Amino acid sequence: MIGLGSLLSFAYLLFPAAAAPSAPAWQFVEKGHSGIVGLEAIVVSPTLTVLFDRASNDPLRTADGKVAWGALWNLETNTATALKLVSDTFCASGALLSNGTMLRCGALNQYIRSVWEATFHGSRHEPDWRLRRAYGPEIVRPCANPLGVGCTIFEDLENLHLAETRWYTSSLRIFDGSLMIVGGIHEGTPFYNTDPVNNFEFFPKKDGGVPRPSAFLERSLPVNLFPRVFALPDGKVFMIANNQSIIYDVEANTETILPDLPNGARITNPFDGTATLLPLSPPDYIPEVLACGGSTMPDTTPVEDLSSQDPATSQCSRITLTPAGIAKGWEVDHMPQGRIMPEMILLPNGQILITNGGSTGYAAVASIGVTTGNSNADHPVCVSSFTPILYTPSAALGSRMSQKGLPTTNIARMYHSTVTLTPQGNILLAGSNPNGNITVIPAGQPGFSSEFRVETLDPPFMQMARPTLINVPAKIPFNQKFTVRVTIPSGVSTSSIKVALMDLGFSSHAFHSSARLVFMDAVLSADKRSLTITSPPNNRVFPPGPAYIFLTVGETTSVGAHVMVGSGANPPVADQGVPL
Ligand SMILES: *[C@@H]1O[C@H](CO)[C@@H](O)[C@H](O)[C@H]1NC(C)=O
Ligand SMILES: *[C@@H]1O[C@H](CO)[C@@H](O)[C@H](O)[C@H]1NC(C)=O
Ligand SMILES: *[C@@H]1O[C@H](CO)[C@@H](O)[C@H](O)[C@H]1NC(C)=O
Repeated sequence: MIGLGSLLSFAYLLFPAAAAPSAPAWQFVEKGHSGIVGLEAIVVSPTLTVLFDRASNDPLRTADGKVAWGALWNLETNTATALKLVSDTFCASGALLSNGTMLRCGALNQYIRSVWEATFHGSRHEPDWRLRRAYGPEIVRPCANPLGVGCTIFEDLENLHLAETRWYTSSLRIFDGSLMIVGGIHEGTPFYNTDPVNNFEFFPKKDGGVPRPSAFLERSLPVNLFPRVFALPDGKVFMIANNQSIIYDVEANTETILPDLPNGARITNPFDGTATLLPLSPPDYIPEVLACGGSTMPDTTPVEDLSSQDPATSQCSRITLTPAGIAKGWEVDHMPQGRIMPEMILLPNGQILITNGGSTGYAAVASIGVTTGNSNADHPVCVSSFTPILYTPSAALGSRMSQKGLPTTNIARMYHSTVTLTPQGNILLAGSNPNGNITVIPAGQPGFSSEFRVETLDPPFMQMARPTLINVPAKIPFNQKFTVRVTIPSGVSTSSIKVALMDLGFSSHAFHSSARLVFMDAVLSADKRSLTITSPPNNRVFPPGPAYIFLTVGETTSVGAHVMVGSGANPPVADQGVPL
């Protein structure tokens, strides 16, 4: 038997360079096997992320030996535990409500059900007619156990469902802590939205559960799936679908048309670019939105004329959502390369990370004229020697994007991949599956295998001494000062201190719904041991619900402290705090 010590010295002899200390740098780190394709991801507790796939032939099994298509991914042990689900979670969206419950909306339809039955007959959970009507939502109760013991998904398909069957819908937590559910398609069609659900509905129900028709969704056909939607600090909702944008007033049920994205850039599925609300800062919380990538192909192009080799656009467009900013319109910038299905992750220091996707083609599977294996897209950006991008919102136009110091991986994250910031402060990447089911593409053949390898992208501070937040209250009321203890590593300058309140969002189809960063004013005590923080003024600046507080001192960021923002009551909640 060889002891650990002799193994280590053996490794040292073989790889002496590996033992040399290196300066902290960004790095991709492989973290294990997700058991199911991480097609959707949402952090539900400080240690757990829920991953969803479709009902398929994933290798992970439930305790009773059935195929799993949902899993709890433990961020500390890097292991997946099967979740037993009844309905099919394929191509859904979701968010956390004001009471901490996670809701997953939309997905399964008969087309997918029949594929699943035909393929996996005998191993599905229940021989169940109800699956036909399984259009969500599904609820995960707040889950306090760090290992996920006892955490379950609650489904009541009879009583708890949307008014419309929706696939490819977006969900957004709004100012009263409920979910706004936007658009989608009734049934599966392979590419364009040819059977649209051009309306909005809410959970819990508003208007007696009658969906609100949307002229905007009508106009933005047929490239309007997974609309990119954002809760603005005044409670209104900004939306992008195809190349069009509006501000929707939830309370008045009115839309205001805003300028189109310039130069024909289209950013919703199946021409997936992505978009994010930039970090909001006191005292004015001026909202700005950044939309990057996608395609400039006309949306009238017949599917047979589309190719996985068509270049994606490198365009980023940014708008300030004030009357003056809207009058000025979108400002155009460019990424170093085109990107289809990119994702943008808000980082606690206020930068945006752009990663995932390909540099050519479109979203969806095997549905256009020229594909790469089953994939409608090609040239994965993190593999084709293209690295992620860091975007600095406050930098001057033309110098906001940098790839300096960012690493490359050999794992393609194409269609059906996810990425999320974790409470630990690094970025979790999972999934990718541009195939009709779990598929291994033999080496040398075109296409991309179903991907189960989980990675993190670790910022340099993961290898450094980090600040800590101590005694953070579990509940943070609006417009209130509160004091927490902090430790700051010796030698780290305290000239730049940032305190970020963050919703980590729900990752699905190149969009992170409800992701949000609101900076909070913070004053460090003279002895540098406590920090007095002022919470956001009201529930419109930060829709009430679970969040993480991160402290960034210079180049280092703390682990996120889990808090409930607002009262934690069931939605809809009344306005809280003071108006802006
Ligand atoms: C947006 O797309 C539509 C077609 O869907 C097109 O008519 C319009 O000119 C585009 N707008 C811009 C600014 O390119
Ligand atoms: C898996 O999907 C491929 C197409 O992507 C299809 O050819 C194959 O028959 C499917 N396998 C099963 C077991 O359904
Ligand atoms: C949270 O609120 C929703 C909507 O009212 C409700 O369905 C759900 O059961 C609540 N969660 C808990 C844990 O009470």
